[in-house]
Amino acid sequence: MTNHTQRTIYVPPGGPPRVAPPSPEIYAQMGEANIFAMLEDLYRELEQSWLRPMFPSDMVAASHRSAAFFVGLLGGPPLYHQRYGNPMMRARHMPFRIDEAARQEWLACFDRVLARAPDKYNFPPAHLPGFRAFLEGFSGWMVNTASDASPPADDNFLELQ
Ligand code: HEM
Repeated sequence: MTNHTQRTIYVPPGGPPRVAPPSPEIYAQMGEANIFAMLEDLYRELEQSWLRPMFPSDMVAASHRSAAFFVGLLGGPPLYHQRYGNPMMRARHMPFRIDEAARQEWLACFDRVLARAPDKYNFPPAHLPGFRAFLEGFSGWMVNTASDASPPADDNFLELQ
């Protein structure tokens, strides 16, 4: 008798995203500490979202691993690569069931952080649209699960309609 749930991995049509990387001027203006602070706040948002169960209990430690990646992505030194190896982001997200609703929730969390980012972490406002476009495109590549017909048991789902 088998008792495991079937899981079909979803591969976004079109393959890896062809999105422009964010401008390196972002790191030049923000610096490492501000990027770490921004990612801590992202993880605070994620902690209050319905994505919470996907994440480990220590959200600050988790935010630091992500921040290491974003430092390199935004034009700084390749901290993630140095500390944790090849990013392989789609592969690293594979253990989690990420469908389109999860992607929209993740983007909404990041949006709230970015709305305050110029004041709070010295994010250059001129580069916000480019960075949002990058997140929009790249997050599509993290989707590994087809949308489920049944909504998650959570009121937040209604906000996504
Ligand atoms: C599409 C929605 C996304 C969801 C639901 C999601 C969810 C997650 C989860 C559950 C983890 C594991 C946390 C842990 O165990 O520490 C994680 C790690 C991470 N995510 Fe995402 N993610 C998404 C999109 C993205 C995107 C677009 C990026 C980059 C632009 C990204 C960058 C990272 C990084 C750098 C890590 C840390 C990997 C590590 O611990 O070594 N994520 N994400």
